[in-house]
Amino acid sequence: MLTSQFTPTNSSTNVTNGEISWSSPSNIALVKYWGKKEHQIPQNQSISFTLSECKTITNLSYSKRENTNDDFSFKVFLDGEHKKDFEPKIKTFFERIKIYLPFLKDYHFKIETRNTFPHSSGIASSASGMSALALCLMSIEKELNSKITEEYFIKKASFIARLGSGSACRSLEGDLVVWGKHEDIDGSSDLFGVKYPYQVHQNFKNYQDTILLVDKGEKQVSSTVGHNLMHGHAFAQERFNQAEENITKIKSILTSGDLDAFIALVESEALTLHAMMMSSMPYFILMKPNTLEIINKIWSFRKESGLHICFTLDAGANVHILYPENEAEAILKFIKNELVAYCQNGHYICDRIGFGAKKL
Ligand code: DP6
Repeated sequence: MLTSQFTPTNSSTNVTNGEISWSSPSNIALVKYWGKKEHQIPQNQSISFTLSECKTITNLSYSKRENTNDDFSFKVFLDGEHKKDFEPKIKTFFERIKIYLPFLKDYHFKIETRNTFPHSSGIASSASGMSALALCLMSIEKELNSKITEEYFIKKASFIARLGSGSACRSLEGDLVVWGKHEDIDGSSDLFGVKYPYQVHQNFKNYQDTILLVDKGEKQVSSTVGHNLMHGHAFAQERFNQAEENITKIKSILTSGDLDAFIALVESEALTLHAMMMSSMPYFILMKPNTLEIINKIWSFRKESGLHICFTLDAGANVHILYPENEAEAILKFIKNELVAYCQNGHYICDRIGFGAKKL
């Protein structure tokens, strides 16, 4: 594996301090990543829509340390509040990436972060959060080595984000990103996400995602634990093969604009992800009764109306409702009249496909 391409060669040492901000979006997978090998290498390929409204905004201030010792020096703030409980996760992340960003021990960092979506919404902030932090760190690397090209910058930022959280490597660019080496996707890699490199049919332009917040509580089982349960899972290899085939299928769907085929693939992926959880040992269920109520309502409404509404799920109880922009009016009306009642405190978020992270 060519990780050596991400080990820096020469860089300046005379940058004493600075500050940098990035905003990075969340993403929703169409073909799901579930199962990983050592060093955050995915067991299967995945593809996601990048979102627009659900984002993490991170400001990173850095100042050169007088005496460096063998430890990292940093503090993390969420919405202005010092979050000591976030620090072990960041420390593990820094340990993983220090060989690629050797300046990490030379500076003290203040990481100030906030999410545009409610903190306790049950929406995972690890993808947008790790991606925003990786981009801030890469901006420092660029400060130290001005020869870095834009192409290298984004590739390495995605590579670094992946080491924080797998799906984070798909949160840098828009509007579709593939992660995992696949023979049908030019340039794809297990090490970083790549912007989907082919023409996408007009039907998918500005595709809508309304997120129904069914359960805002902490998940009982983390994604990391769930991924690990794919080791020795009775159906693992079949699932990995299916995901590989689904990438080939979705490529032709994205070209043809066949919305019925899109719906069938996306819903099957979501239910297969949860079927993997239910058939792990130990097994677990992240859907809630209201998740199923919503799914059934979507199916009846689709049958009655002929509209192209479908759902997907991430590793939780919330439901992402996907639909084309030109059907938005009728579908939003249905969501408000029929589905919001199943959301915790009636909460939902209107989002859509987006164009990636921004330097602020
Ligand atoms: C179900 O990226 O959160 O959302 O690599 O352990 O941080 P780690 O896991 P994470 O897993 C996300 C899984 C998923 C599917 C997906 O986004 O592809």
